[in-house]
Amino acid sequence: MRLIQRSSSPCLRESHVNCSGLKINEALRHKLHLHLRLAQTALVGKPGYFTALHQGECGGIDRYSPLPAPRTKNTTYTLTMFRRIQEAREVIQTSEGHVNLNRNLNSIERELKAILTPHQSDKICGIVCYGLGQLSCSRIARYQCALLLILQDHFQAPTEVYDPAFSVVDAEVLEDLSINVLNRNEEGKRRVVGTTLFFLPHCGKELNNNLLWANWNASSLPLCVIVGNSFSAIVQNVPTRILKEHYRFIYHAQDMFRELPLTALVDCDDVFNDMSIHIPCHRMLHKCSEFWSVCSYGCNHGSFIVGTMTECHPWLTCDDIRHLDIGELIGFGAVKHVYQTSWQSITMAIAFLNNKEYKEDFLYGIKILKQIGSRRHVIQLLGFCEEAPVVLTEYHPLGSSLNVEKIVRDTDNTHNLRHRFQLCIDYVEY
Ligand SMILES: C[S@@+](CC[C@H](N)C(=O)[O-])C[C@H]1O[C@@H](n2cnc3c(N)ncnc32)[C@H](O)[C@@H]1O
Repeated sequence: MRLIQRSSSPCLRESHVNCSGLKINEALRHKLHLHLRLAQTALVGKPGYFTALHQGECGGIDRYSPLPAPRTKNTTYTLTMFRRIQEAREVIQTSEGHVNLNRNLNSIERELKAILTPHQSDKICGIVCYGLGQLSCSRIARYQCALLLILQDHFQAPTEVYDPAFSVVDAEVLEDLSINVLNRNEEGKRRVVGTTLFFLPHCGKELNNNLLWANWNASSLPLCVIVGNSFSAIVQNVPTRILKEHYRFIYHAQDMFRELPLTALVDCDDVFNDMSIHIPCHRMLHKCSEFWSVCSYGCNHGSFIVGTMTECHPWLTCDDIRHLDIGELIGFGAVKHVYQTSWQSITMAIAFLNNKEYKEDFLYGIKILKQIGSRRHVIQLLGFCEEAPVVLTEYHPLGSSLNVEKIVRDTDNTHNLRHRFQLCIDYVEY
């Protein structure tokens, strides 16, 4: 019996109402209760199930040793998993931290309302969970699954999960709990279409970084509530150089979310340790458009991303460049002439050598840009053709740095000093 029904609205792609009209809570509770009763009847006196006590460091929270997952559907196994998850859920719901959890969950939509525009809904319309782990062998995964069910119940939202580690039977257990198991690895790059709660329990920084990258714009990120490893703890514990190089979205995101730690939900601190609910806060609204685009830099060496592009593209080659239309002249010097051009509707700057004597100098310029790669404060290389020679870079409408003084002078006075300081900091930072 699947409880999920498809619907055409993107936000209500799956509504949690079953054929008999029961809402998910009631239906699920009913089903779990039935399963548990069946399990108790079927398993009484059978050694091997529920009896292997694990007196580990967890003070009896998880009394069971790992249960190897069968390769094919196995009702007894499924019932055992249901029971263990249900027990984990009861532990959380009777824990010291549960009241606080409820209060925090209640505050999510209220806080979102304060920052979203009137046409954006503050209702969580979907839950996406990555990296739950294997339910069969991990007590932690079962507790986290129990929290996922609590979140599902609280928000009454369709829930999707993915973990490459799931066994076939793990997937069946989750499907039976009305959780849709994705069969495609999104690598965390889900783009939101409505307010979405992401649950990434103890997931790697790459997955978190990908998620932020995929939604890195002023209209999508405010729709993302993320329950996972605390961004501020990551920023505190990982060297800034590594963050800037590999996880720059986490680095820039940490002050744009309000963090509410998950505390005292279980006795063991290996289940929800270092995890927080990250709620988008008003600071996100105060970022200028340059902030969103500047941070998006950083493709792998040999590729670029600019403007409205959503994925990195390899540097354009002689062949690509040959087909570009050349627009107006935007600058020139002793070595090169620079024109506007456009590739896939993205404006770029194309520079031609204008004096053969300086060819070596021109080629050296390309070599340096290739070595530097994508950096926030250096113009990005988009393509080149050494035979021509010609080089393609980002187009910046404010033009050369020689214009800086005039631009700063002409900018709104209230920000003038701040701009000047920021320019100095940017210069030193690089
Ligand atoms: C550190 S483990 C956390 C497991 C469990 N949640 C816990 O706290 O013990 C990270 C999990 O992320 C999963 N994972 C790795 N790549 C993933 C991806 N692209 N999408 C979803 N999950 C992924 C791994 O299989 C693993 O189960």
